[in-house]
Amino acid sequence: MAEFDILVKGGVLPDGRQADIGIRDGFIAAVGELFGSTAREVIDASGDLVAPPFVDPHFHMDATLSYGTPRINASGTLLEGIALWGELREQATVDEMVARALAYCDWAVSQGLLAIRSHVDTTPAHLRGVTALIEVREKVKDYLDLQLVAFPQDGLYRAQGARENLIRALDMGVDVVGGIPHFERTMEDGRASVRDLCEIAADRGLPVDMHCDETDDPASRHIETLAYETQRLGLGGRVVGSHLTSMHSMDNYYVSKLLPLIAEAQVAAIPNPLINIVLQGRHDSYPKRRGLTRVKEMQAMGIPVGWGQDCVRDPWYSLGTADMLDVAFMGLHVAQMTSPEEMRRCFDMVTEGNASIIGLEGYGLHEGAVGSLVVLDAGDPIEAVRLRPDRLWVISKGKVVSRQARNDARLSLTGRPDSIRRRH
Ligand code: FE2
Repeated sequence: MAEFDILVKGGVLPDGRQADIGIRDGFIAAVGELFGSTAREVIDASGDLVAPPFVDPHFHMDATLSYGTPRINASGTLLEGIALWGELREQATVDEMVARALAYCDWAVSQGLLAIRSHVDTTPAHLRGVTALIEVREKVKDYLDLQLVAFPQDGLYRAQGARENLIRALDMGVDVVGGIPHFERTMEDGRASVRDLCEIAADRGLPVDMHCDETDDPASRHIETLAYETQRLGLGGRVVGSHLTSMHSMDNYYVSKLLPLIAEAQVAAIPNPLINIVLQGRHDSYPKRRGLTRVKEMQAMGIPVGWGQDCVRDPWYSLGTADMLDVAFMGLHVAQMTSPEEMRRCFDMVTEGNASIIGLEGYGLHEGAVGSLVVLDAGDPIEAVRLRPDRLWVISKGKVVSRQARNDARLSLTGRPDSIRRRH
């Protein structure tokens, strides 16, 4: 009988070590030099980067792959996107949302993206998005971990019935408490919503992941309240502030006070660079603000920061491929993370960093971890971010779920030597 179900041979791990990985019964059974071992399936990954799967900590699966329905976002702003989505969610059926979400999960798997935290709009009383995504979570669970966040898109207090509907969604089994304080009617309502939602999470023992200060307004300071409430209620380590774009425009003196408070409260941050580089600064002439929060500065304070994808082909964003390396690539540019250490960190953010922020269990490439990994046609993490290369093999929970032939032919047709592409 074979020793392993799958043996991945000769891969280069993100930390530069070369190691074989043996997978048995859905888990990583051995990592190291496994010369002479037998397996039902042997994968030759000689010289290829073998990484734990990509993780997206911020997505909207109820809206994905709906681009152009009912029409395109002409102004390109967050607010027009919200208005468009308001129309779409009334037309969309549960079956149609399930179909779009499952199609997206297929894209994700082919890119080695095997864990997604998705917000789901809990505003309308019909809660069709919640019904659809709970069904999807169940359908994909053997190969993709889907966490759902109860997201009161139109405001917890601003939209009629929104608080009650959010509670109903949590009762239906949604995993995380969301919020959108900057979209409430007043700064005061925003602050009260953060307090209320954190108390709901504390009562139910749930994590919090809030859209927070997704605005160019330097006076939007709900992250301060989120850090305060996190500390007051003892929620440290399970609270995320998503977007935090107002921090880009805040006064430096205030930020020098704010960052230690976020660090002390153990609140993590999820910027979404693809989306915020196109949504923010739309009211500026020139200079135009970049619309990304202060990533390096937060990391220097010890605040966990991940990269989120947010949207793919929906009312807010017309592009996207479910590739977390696209996200890391954009984040690297906008945050100017160009030193070798920072570029490697961008890769770590879309793998280990994101996994830790959303509390994935059994994640990594160590013995005893869940048997999930991706083999990339690149030699190291920096090259992976630079090339966003083919995912040659994707293994989820001990099974091969996607494979792709090494595509050298395409490059040879361009006349460019292969050495441009790989490991040189
Ligand atoms: Fe979002």
